[in-house]
Amino acid sequence: MAKQGEQVCVTGASGCIGSWVVHFLLHRGYSINATVKDLKDETETKHLRGLEGAETRLRLFQIDLLDYDSIAAAVSGCSGVFHLASPCTVDHVHDPEKELLDPAIKGTINVLTAAKEAGVRRVVLTSSVSSIAPSPNWTSVKTEECWTDLDYCKRKQLWYPMSKTLAEKAAWEFAKEKGLDVVAVNPGTVMGPVIPPKLNASMVMFLRLLQGCTETYEDFFIGPVHFKDVALAHILVYENKSASGRHLCLESLSHYSDFVAKVAELYPEYKVPSLPRDTQPGLLRAKDPSKKLIDLGLQFIPVEQIIKDAVENLKSKGVIS
Ligand SMILES: NC(=O)c1ccc[n+]([C@@H]2O[C@H](COP(=O)([O-])OP(=O)(O)OC[C@H]3O[C@@H](n4cnc5c(N)ncnc54)[C@H](OP(=O)(O)O)[C@@H]3O)[C@@H](O)[C@H]2O)c1
Repeated sequence: MAKQGEQVCVTGASGCIGSWVVHFLLHRGYSINATVKDLKDETETKHLRGLEGAETRLRLFQIDLLDYDSIAAAVSGCSGVFHLASPCTVDHVHDPEKELLDPAIKGTINVLTAAKEAGVRRVVLTSSVSSIAPSPNWTSVKTEECWTDLDYCKRKQLWYPMSKTLAEKAAWEFAKEKGLDVVAVNPGTVMGPVIPPKLNASMVMFLRLLQGCTETYEDFFIGPVHFKDVALAHILVYENKSASGRHLCLESLSHYSDFVAKVAELYPEYKVPSLPRDTQPGLLRAKDPSKKLIDLGLQFIPVEQIIKDAVENLKSKGVIS
């Protein structure tokens, strides 16, 4: 359990995963320096200010991942940092360097440098399964040992997986060189109830699916996970001294087609397409792949509940009927 009032910084707090991390941290008694990109934009701030405990234990900071001083101000005085801020998209980008790679990689180094300067005890880095897969050879069950193939990413212009892989590699190098305690969480495709008014990339994927989109996300999907589980995983690896290295964070290793078939079964009223059985060719399916987090006490929410929570949330937001 947190020391009452222990001060931590959450970057990307305004985002869909970040809001859940802030929610659980407030619930556990932490005081939080939460970063947003634009303090004047109510769509980034209002939902955070409305969380229970926010009135007395939440301070908002405006940061730009490429502006070291803005980050240092948010990290100052904190004993822990949760670094979630990073651009996240599976859509085409015009300028990968500027839109994805720079903020992910330089942003991570800026956050780690600020953490080192501030004497932070531990940094939790939000990486992704996008730094574990894709690779052209899916011959074994994906584990924390696996790394995305960067040449494959370059060939196929998979800039988001490339940004997450290079950012995570840079973080491990920094941690080793400067002696900073870093642990990583590598979530799958995160879905469920969205706290902010804006949807993130994975919930946009889910919405498009309900609207009949036949994209198979061959190089992006290796399994689903609930927002709450990803947020709790961050806190578990922060609070457990024994946690180290990377933590695969998903309900199951599965193909997008498995997920889509389950959505169609639960919600036949939407235009969910029928997909070929193997949408991630060669990916081996596995139940409970996130053994490190399960050993730390995480009980993953089943896929049926992830889908139900995601659909109900989109309904409550008026995005679908
Ligand atoms: N969604 C998934 O399925 C998934 C899976 C694995 C890992 N992740 C990782 O989880 C983290 C959070 O993603 P999410 O799904 O919660 O997406 P999100 O809702 O889009 O959140 C991204 C957050 O990063 C902030 N951000 C982006 N670029 C920034 C910049 N240049 N300067 C400052 N802040 C910036 C955003 O601020 P604004 O709100 O102001 O834009 C937002 O708070 C990311 O690191 C992502 O790579 C996501």
